[in-house]
Amino acid sequence: MSQQVWTAVDDYFTETLIGDDPVLAAAQQAADAAGLPRIAVSAPQGKQLQLLAQTLGAKRVLEVGTLGGYSAIWMARALPADGRLVTLEIDPVHAEVARGNLKHAGFAEIAEVRVGPAAESLQQLADEGAAPFDLVFIDADKPSNPVYFAWALRLTRPGSLIIVDNTVRGGKVAEADSTDPAIVGTRRLHDAIAAEPRVSATSIQTVGAKGYDGFTMIRVQA
Ligand code: SAH
Ligand code: DHB
Ligand code: MG
Repeated sequence: MSQQVWTAVDDYFTETLIGDDPVLAAAQQAADAAGLPRIAVSAPQGKQLQLLAQTLGAKRVLEVGTLGGYSAIWMARALPADGRLVTLEIDPVHAEVARGNLKHAGFAEIAEVRVGPAAESLQQLADEGAAPFDLVFIDADKPSNPVYFAWALRLTRPGSLIIVDNTVRGGKVAEADSTDPAIVGTRRLHDAIAAEPRVSATSIQTVGAKGYDGFTMIRVQA
């Protein structure tokens, strides 16, 4: 099996189960026009985030790593009119593109893009006494995954779900002696999860348009 097949299958699922989506296509175009890297979740992955948020009955979603707002739009679509999505982004250009895309998608009222290093924005959210989030999607700089997991635990409640993107990285996560900071961070994330009695978790390998990767799913239990 090859990347060509994985992409063809993702195209097939996108055509049959998702269809044309002018709002997301425009968001992708705006991100491309601004020169953002093409590393947003795929359409099937975005839809999975939306379905998870809907299944949770999520009213409050937190995202770490906004890029152009593509995954944020998917998750915002799961929220009720009085829902809230806060998404954290270090790059002001990415944040501006995301604000435009979220506005065009109709989520200017629901969604807030906060600019700055996510670790600082997370501290700020805690200081503000932000109400617990029902769903947290961690998808920023991978070396900081353990830091973001610790904050996500502080900003959620029992029953909340934390998803971490890109935790397989072509299988490199299994390399115990890796010195790649992204892999070290993701292995430390798994150690932190294993040492944390308040959560129950699994990691799933995936193939698709974005290659061979995967995600980690963590339920806050207590
Ligand atoms: N979730 C997005 C993709 C995010 S890509 C989607 O699927 O549509 C990762 C993003 O994290 C990039 O925009 C990058 O600028 C941002 N990022 C990297 N380091 C960060 C940090 N320390 N704090 C906040 N955002 C960061
Ligand atoms: C990269 C980041 C991502 O969040 C992703 O889904 C794929 C690739 C990257 O930094 O290369
Ligand atoms: Mg990602």
